[in-house]
Amino acid sequence: MSFVGRHVLSIDPFSRADLEALRALATRLEPVAQRKVRCHALEGAVLANLFFEASTRTRMSFHTAFSRLGGSVCDTTGFTFSSISKGESLADTARVIAGYADAIVMRHPEQGSVAQFAEHIQVPVINAGDGAGEHPSQALLDYYTISAEFDRLGKTIDGMTIAMVGDLKHGRTIHSLSKLLALFERITFHFIAPHALRAPDALVEMLREKGHTVTIFDSVGAGIADADVLYATRIQKERFGTEEAPEGYSEQFRINRQTIDRYAPSDVVIMHPLPRDSREGAFDLATDLDSAPQLAIFRQTDHGVTMRMAIFAAVLGVADNIEQYFSEQRGFRPTRYSELDAPFYTLNKD
Ligand code: NCD
Repeated sequence: MSFVGRHVLSIDPFSRADLEALRALATRLEPVAQRKVRCHALEGAVLANLFFEASTRTRMSFHTAFSRLGGSVCDTTGFTFSSISKGESLADTARVIAGYADAIVMRHPEQGSVAQFAEHIQVPVINAGDGAGEHPSQALLDYYTISAEFDRLGKTIDGMTIAMVGDLKHGRTIHSLSKLLALFERITFHFIAPHALRAPDALVEMLREKGHTVTIFDSVGAGIADADVLYATRIQKERFGTEEAPEGYSEQFRINRQTIDRYAPSDVVIMHPLPRDSREGAFDLATDLDSAPQLAIFRQTDHGVTMRMAIFAAVLGVADNIEQYFSEQRGFRPTRYSELDAPFYTLNKD
């Protein structure tokens, strides 16, 4: 499909060819993401970055991506500082912001709200998470990460096994990534969650209807034994309105070095959309894996900027010959990436 002028609200309208096109575009934008060259493709354009729910990396990486393409960004965070707190409808807010901005990124706690907002306007809207609904840009950066890791490992997405662990019911990253992987062939999904947080039936049915294999597990061990990717997620307590851990959610869902050494293949790619809950009793992805080369979580966050640049370039119609907007990087030039991921980037080679 042509992305120009389109909203990005869900993975539903994407084809495999669309994914491949975005991946190719992201690869061409890698020198800009790594600050080796500058890009002025979006000079003069303004992004409205509207976040009505907590965010660190999604908000900042959209901001960074738009800035690296030469555009500028207006941010608003939380309901308190927005006129929505004065009773303004989403439709009015949409109409107003469409008069200011050339692209809009929006995160909102209600499922379907971002689509409702986008209905009223022509300016491209990107869904940065609508409640327990979808998070398409996260799925795209996850796909970009899996592709890069698999290139290194000599694997293909077709035929892969992915183990998804944690809050599969409320995790919008799980919903979007599953839909995205369903565009490939013969995927085996291992859904590992306590009963109360299992993946929605409709999602499981859709994956099976498309010919993929879905197996449900209620503990980690067997579910990760033959995984190519292990995708851990946080328990989304804010979505079930209680601080109580759900029944059945216990120590056995923690992914740590011992779990990986004991059950997972040595080349498993460990992913997480982040944030991970590092508080005691959270049983989320443990920090004792931080120096493990299989841990791709910070490569994911780096890829978030690149993929979001590709999304903006595509929807704002500057993707063709994007290199014509490149210029020499003057002044500041970064020389290093984080030590954790140093082996994966050429920048850190002395
Ligand atoms: C996730 C989200 O907000 O959906 N984070 C992200 O965007 N990278 C996951 C979460 O909040 O647990």
